[in-house]
Amino acid sequence: MHAGQSLCSAPNAAVMTTHKPTDSAGPHVSMPDSILIVDFGSQVTQLIARRVREAGVYSEIAPFSMAEEAFRRMRPKGIILSGSPAGVPDEGSPRAPQSLFEAGVPILGICYGQQVMSHQLGGEVRPGHETGEGGEFGRAFLTVSKECKLFDGLWTVGERHQVWMSHGDKVTRFAPGFEIVATSDGAPFAVIADEKRKFYGTQFHPEVVHTPDGGKLLANFVHHVCGLQGDWTMAAYRDTKVAEIRAQVGDGKVICGLSGGVDSSVAAILIHEAIGAQLTCVFVDHGLLRLNEREQVETLFRDHYNIPLVVVDAEKRFMRGLAGETDPERKRKFIGGEFIAVFEEEAKKLGGADFLAQGTLYPDVIESVSFTGGPSVTIKSHHNVGGLPERMNMSLVEPLRELFKDEVRELGRELGLNDQFVGRHPFPGPGLAIRIPGEVTKERCDILRKADAIYLDEIRKAGLYDAIWQAFAVLLPVKTVGVMGDYRTYDNVCGLRAVTSTDGMTADVYPFDATFLTGCATRIVNEVQGINRVVYDYTSKPPGTIEWE
Ligand code: XMP
Repeated sequence: MHAGQSLCSAPNAAVMTTHKPTDSAGPHVSMPDSILIVDFGSQVTQLIARRVREAGVYSEIAPFSMAEEAFRRMRPKGIILSGSPAGVPDEGSPRAPQSLFEAGVPILGICYGQQVMSHQLGGEVRPGHETGEGGEFGRAFLTVSKECKLFDGLWTVGERHQVWMSHGDKVTRFAPGFEIVATSDGAPFAVIADEKRKFYGTQFHPEVVHTPDGGKLLANFVHHVCGLQGDWTMAAYRDTKVAEIRAQVGDGKVICGLSGGVDSSVAAILIHEAIGAQLTCVFVDHGLLRLNEREQVETLFRDHYNIPLVVVDAEKRFMRGLAGETDPERKRKFIGGEFIAVFEEEAKKLGGADFLAQGTLYPDVIESVSFTGGPSVTIKSHHNVGGLPERMNMSLVEPLRELFKDEVRELGRELGLNDQFVGRHPFPGPGLAIRIPGEVTKERCDILRKADAIYLDEIRKAGLYDAIWQAFAVLLPVKTVGVMGDYRTYDNVCGLRAVTSTDGMTADVYPFDATFLTGCATRIVNEVQGINRVVYDYTSKPPGTIEWE
């Protein structure tokens, strides 16, 4: 079958595409020394970027079809070719731009990347079924047969090391100039090298944790082979971005929609550092916020950072619009549209603005599309302020668009935000509305706010908050009978949800112990009028989603 099979491919495998940076991404004041990662659609391409950044070197991912353009823009000091769900022998499978092999910079090909490089430089790749040897999937051991710059200070000749393989096809003849430097049972060309051109290929995946020395091998590539220092730090990023924002905005006006979450907050604080009072933040209180959330935002931005902040009390109009609505998608659509309307009105009152600031992150920029190029299925319409820039004729300022979530948290700390704030669980744009299946009313929001606050308080007291990706309460449209004292009760059911995740795309249920959950249930039923029963949600994602709607 295919080169990437189990690790790289999946039904409806996705190709990651990096959107073209628009002029709204702003002029690049100075591009840090960087590595370009050419993506052929592996599901673990992002991990390559993570490992390179962990080695203190800036990296960007570009799909193979846009790699030439990315190369011209970035002038990288090295290139990494990713894995793929495709197979090199397959008709129409992707290729690297040939010019990259002639650019004079070091290249590391991983799995499909190794195979495509071998193929394009004159070697041979054959499907597993033709070689009659099948593939290698999962843990494998390789033996080092020759010294190689990739192995510097790490592996020596004759040693055996664990790696993670996931391939069906294999290189059967390497390209001129290459030699074998490590072999495994299933892949005689487990690692190949052309030290003269500084081209390397690994049949295994160094970017996954199952290759224990993988991070160090990638660090060797960027430091020893490409000669990069590893001096890309958040302090440096902060300075570069401040200069970039100033250059982009000039004396223009910027507005930023604050959600109270980490991303928009960090973006706002960074932009404020760059342009001061040219920035105004707008916080829309749609009545779907958590307990005391609005006050916390006001204190942080207005009092602590002295950032001009407009708080819009829009609870009544949101509740009016949500009245009688029970369909999850229609609720989401209404909230998204109304949010934009409120935001637009406020921007007009402020006399308009030239720029809209958003806390867009790198995983949002690298968008998954189906491998065949068709649109992926909409599970839920996510609510953000998309649509606004065109409607209001504004350019975007997105200073976080190169960062992963944990890097944003690090930048937040660099900007003086405390750990409790930067470590906050994600909170969706439509807020509590998607945690109240059925009709949303102010009364139901108030009930849920109280239950949610108790649950999070218990989690914090138990020291579990940071171990959980997201925890929240849900108010079900179901009433059940209970007994309190000598009285019959007939009240709402509250669901509790807690998951672990790395990116929200998949999630596991957090395994609280029963005593903890019983404690939460007791407090919620005793302290929140309107709830007489509590249940815990044991569904992972997939097949569930994290939010209930
Ligand atoms: P689901 O429910 O799709 O959620 O498994 C995955 C992650 O996304 C968050 N989420 C949203 N975030 N606007 C947001 O900003 C939205 O409309 C939205 N819907 C879901 C959710 O909280 C979880 O972290």
